[in-house]
Amino acid sequence: MTEATSVYAPFDPAFQADPYPAYRHLRDHDPVHRHTDPPFWALSRFEDVWTAVRDHGTFSSASGLTFYEDEIGRLGLAPTIVMLDPPRHTVLRRLISHGFTPRRTAAMEGALRAFVRARLDGMRRREADGETVDLHREFSSPLPTFALAELLDVPEADRSRFGPWVSALTTFQDQGFDTAAMAEGSGARAVAEMFEYFGGVVAERRERPGDDLISALTVAEADGERLTDWDILGFCFVIVAGGNDTTGNLVTHAVSLLSDRPDQRELLVADPSLIPNALLEFLRLEGSVQALARTTTRPVTVRGVEIPAGEKVMMLYGAANRDEREFGPSADVLDVTRSIPRHLGFASGVHFCIGSHLARLQARVALEELLAAHPHVELDQPRAKRIMSPFTRGWVSAPVHLGVSPCAGSDGPSAGRTSP
Ligand code: HEM
Repeated sequence: MTEATSVYAPFDPAFQADPYPAYRHLRDHDPVHRHTDPPFWALSRFEDVWTAVRDHGTFSSASGLTFYEDEIGRLGLAPTIVMLDPPRHTVLRRLISHGFTPRRTAAMEGALRAFVRARLDGMRRREADGETVDLHREFSSPLPTFALAELLDVPEADRSRFGPWVSALTTFQDQGFDTAAMAEGSGARAVAEMFEYFGGVVAERRERPGDDLISALTVAEADGERLTDWDILGFCFVIVAGGNDTTGNLVTHAVSLLSDRPDQRELLVADPSLIPNALLEFLRLEGSVQALARTTTRPVTVRGVEIPAGEKVMMLYGAANRDEREFGPSADVLDVTRSIPRHLGFASGVHFCIGSHLARLQARVALEELLAAHPHVELDQPRAKRIMSPFTRGWVSAPVHLGVSPCAGSDGPSAGRTSP
């Protein structure tokens, strides 16, 4: 059991287990924090992070998004959209937006719902047989892998390859360059494998275009320009590395937060139309992306503190999203009806998450079906295991009690509904 700490120590398991006391301390007493080893700055107030992240001219993404030096070179990355500044970023983003449209995303709802229902059926049967059900491993985490595979139209047999790539990359990012993960080269190997795999897919789609996102990207055109293979590979990397765990963790966080607040869960069960707003509240309180870095292109003064050019500056999205100065005195409290005009769960500015529609669609469908079938679903908190990271917040496993009635059948979302 780790002791709670109010010291911002990104590598300390006590901080990672519960970063919120330290975030509060930073916001109140040290909003432009200087970290020494490794050297970087950290912004924690909503207004400061919001302003900095929208000022891409001063706070550049082109040198990577962690506080490690040269992560791009060491990983052997293609120039991915998320690590480019305008004007190149603007061109790439426009081209990608031509293929990755809200309509393409919305068209996936039926397939997502069928997947979620099938998963719930399996889980319900297992719980009825007295087995432990792991919400994260069996439900939240497979959902985005399924969604991405659908989006990219990847054959069923290849889908299981995504998971290990994602874990190698997140382990690499989370633990840094000096660890066993780096020594084994698993992060760079995952990138190489992923690029080789998607390189084949891109070549095939150029030859025989289908109705999938990669095919759409091969023909997307803006101002006479088209995406190169390298651009498309970079995009595939970002969505596999950045669209999987983030979305799965949002779903498990929702259930975790609601397990502590049955009154809020009842509101959603009674009125599922509140779920889209609730998702923003879950993301605000327990963001999958807690912190990402920028690099200063010139000296800049924030709250009277001068940050020189060429310095790494962490945007503590997780701290900013609980700032009382923005969200009022109840900023730490779950309120699924809260009005949230702006937040940083998907960042802001030019790099605002391009997959936010897809993430919200998946999480909405997952929660609609889960809460309709199991209105008393509860996380088994003491047995749940979190990932440990200075950058992300999420889960390794999350055993749950679905609340299955002994006579539950398996024909649809209401099949496992227990009486209130
Ligand atoms: C709950 C789920 C998700 C969260 C919390 C999330 C969060 C974020 C954040 C914070 C950024 C900005 C990065 C920065 O500040 O540098 C971002 C960018 C991005 N996200 Fe997401 N994301 C999620 C799901 C997805 C999904 C499902 C996809 C695609 C399928 C996706 C694709 C991207 C891409 C391509 C970018 C880069 C956009 C750009 O640089 O213009 N994300 N996301």
